[in-house]
Amino acid sequence: MRCGPELSIIVPTFNERENIAELIGRLVVSLGDRSWEVVFVDDDSPDGTADVVREHAAVDSRVRCVQRIGRRGLSSACIEGMLATTARYLAVIDADLQHDERLLPQMLDALKEGETDIVIGSRYAPGGDIGDWNARRARMSRLAVRLSRVLVPAEVTDPMSGFFMMRRSVLEGSAHRLSAIGFKILTDVFASFPRPLRFKELPYRFRVRRAGESKLDSVTAWDYLMLLLDKLIGRWIPVRFLAFSIVGATGVAVHFAVLTLVLQGLHRSFVAGQAAALLCAMTFNYAVNNVLTYRDRRLTGIRWVRGWASFVLACSIGGIANLGVSSTIYDFGRGWFPAAIGGILVGAVWNYAVTMMLTWGRGRR
Ligand code: GDD
Ligand code: MN
Repeated sequence: MRCGPELSIIVPTFNERENIAELIGRLVVSLGDRSWEVVFVDDDSPDGTADVVREHAAVDSRVRCVQRIGRRGLSSACIEGMLATTARYLAVIDADLQHDERLLPQMLDALKEGETDIVIGSRYAPGGDIGDWNARRARMSRLAVRLSRVLVPAEVTDPMSGFFMMRRSVLEGSAHRLSAIGFKILTDVFASFPRPLRFKELPYRFRVRRAGESKLDSVTAWDYLMLLLDKLIGRWIPVRFLAFSIVGATGVAVHFAVLTLVLQGLHRSFVAGQAAALLCAMTFNYAVNNVLTYRDRRLTGIRWVRGWASFVLACSIGGIANLGVSSTIYDFGRGWFPAAIGGILVGAVWNYAVTMMLTWGRGRR
């Protein structure tokens, strides 16, 4: 006999304590006596969102809380929330009441008819609306929609939607392939499911955030790019390695800038300049990788300093490996260019692999 809820609503949260009671209240009204539960997945919000959720959970068994520590990310939160449930139907909705929860019963009915895998709340379908967005964000959103066309069928008007409901089989069919990067879980699901999804869209008006503030920032665009890249080439090259390499390449510019400054501005020796340039470039690379490449495991406070030390240590050894490999290739008479490239490749792979474990490894908290 099935006794678990038929519908699980997953709500990713970060600093949303003011919105929890209102959202639960509205779900109760919208879903009436249907069989449902709501699972909040909170990334250890400093405002104590998880505690607020647990207060509700203590008096209402339809409310549950998953608290993740030392992790960030909307997509991965949704996926882990879904995996913590058994319901036949899975919905994702934001906590800030920007999505129209009154669509949930309609979404459920549409799925139960059996012809549809996923129902999407759309701001761009006829009748939908993006609400009060400034021109810049509206432009960004439209650009992101256009980019998504490589992964999501063109008929989906709102592939960026964070509001949808799907059959459990869609999760099961895509779970192991999901990239789980950044904000755009719907794009991820479409691109990860082995066959085209049968979808339906319901228009709604994107409302104004009720309390608190948006977590979307300029890094969201970077995350989105990483998601697209992971879907397109991730099978061959880990996208984190790609990000790490891009950051590494920009570090070269920092290196030369500092070197020039020390040599020409301060008139110091080459060795002094080179040492200062190396340290600055490594610190720069560390800081940027910490915000971009490892955003979901970002180190702060004292852990930032510890992470910096391990990064500098690892990359120094990487530098020695680079020297060893390049001089060996050079000694074989292969010329300086291939030798340098060989050294850079080995050094980059070493730095990436070692800092992944040592600096941003899961055990270091
Ligand atoms: N667990 C967790 N971890 N939750 C997060 C994180 C995180 O790192 N970042 C954001 N959230 C939660 C927020 O608390 C909120 O409930 C929801 O995810 C959406 O975050 P917002 O910051 O409100 O995003 P938005 O309003 O700019 O954009 C949303 O709506 C768009 C339209 O549907 C997102 O869902 C977008 O992906 C979506 O395109
Ligand atoms: Mn929002």
